[in-house]
Amino acid sequence: MSELSFRIKNEEFKEKSSKNAAYDYKEQAQRMRALQDEQRKVVEKMKKIPYKIAILSSKGGVGKSFVTSNLAIALSSLGKNVAVLDADFHGPSIPKMLGIELSKGLLARDDGSIIPAVSRHGVKVVSVGLMLPTEDTPVIWRGSIKTTAIRQLLAYTDWEGIEYLLIDLPPGTGDEQLTIAQIIPNLTGFLMVTIPSEISKYVVKKAANFAQKINVPILGIIENMSYFKCDDGKIYYIFGKGAAEEISKEYNITFLGKIPIDPKIRESNDNGIAFFIDYPELEASKIFMDISKKFLEVLEKANKKEENNLQK
Ligand SMILES: Nc1ncnc2c1ncn2[C@@H]1O[C@H](COP(=O)(O)OP(=O)(O)OP(=O)(O)O)[C@@H](O)[C@H]1O
Ligand SMILES: [Mg+2]
Repeated sequence: MSELSFRIKNEEFKEKSSKNAAYDYKEQAQRMRALQDEQRKVVEKMKKIPYKIAILSSKGGVGKSFVTSNLAIALSSLGKNVAVLDADFHGPSIPKMLGIELSKGLLARDDGSIIPAVSRHGVKVVSVGLMLPTEDTPVIWRGSIKTTAIRQLLAYTDWEGIEYLLIDLPPGTGDEQLTIAQIIPNLTGFLMVTIPSEISKYVVKKAANFAQKINVPILGIIENMSYFKCDDGKIYYIFGKGAAEEISKEYNITFLGKIPIDPKIRESNDNGIAFFIDYPELEASKIFMDISKKFLEVLEKANKKEENNLQK
């Protein structure tokens, strides 16, 4: 290559890359503006919801979605306006546990706002599970897409009139948990769920440390699958004993109660019904309603504390 042709090629390259850089810059600026716009919408909408609670455990399969869906129904049965955001994109369980037909999907208005689905108990639900073509379609998303999805669902959903927003999280302390904590202003706090096993206890402690590190209050802890009571009244501590009480003491978290293992709970979750409404005679049902009422009191106290802090 002669020197001249090399220089020409070089100039061409410089011109092309500066055009690309300008294009990238423009596109990036547009993306930034859209992101700021979405975040502004999230802030505006979240300010209007008095209680925003994320259900956290770190450990999988301990009953987070069960607690989220049934707590939502319990609060709704106590006359509250409740919505659930299902932030477990890879394993969305909320629509099924709340008995919402997946085929109904989610509707959007002409202005692009998302209309939540409504369960027969009056709970509003937004879930990616309602946007998939079939029940067994997997969601294959990286962390950044999940962060965007959470922000957009919060920004574009019509949350009008909602007093309590419960957010069901996947296990872990990763993208989804961090996103929720970072983008929701004044997140009321985390509600923790554990089972009594040693393994769950040590993993759930990670979640408690996570919450403390990122400065989000832990509103309470529920122990699920605490025991199994046979028909003859004998009690079996299948997963061990006392994990939640231990965590509550160590981290100074309100202990909300222990839910036993009951096949009716599993069955009701699978069938999209509320066990404590359909089987009110169960010990677990009374315990669950007591936990829900205690949780409401904790929330009201947290709100008063916040108001006092704002007045200072
Ligand atoms: N107290 C209980 N008695 C009987 N079955 C229960 C109880 N709690 C939860 N289950 C059942 O255990 C299974 C796991 O519960 P769930 O899906 O709520 O856990 P999770 O913590 O949300 O799981 P993941 O981490 O995968 O999101 C479900 O089938 C649910 O119906
Ligand atoms: Mg779950």
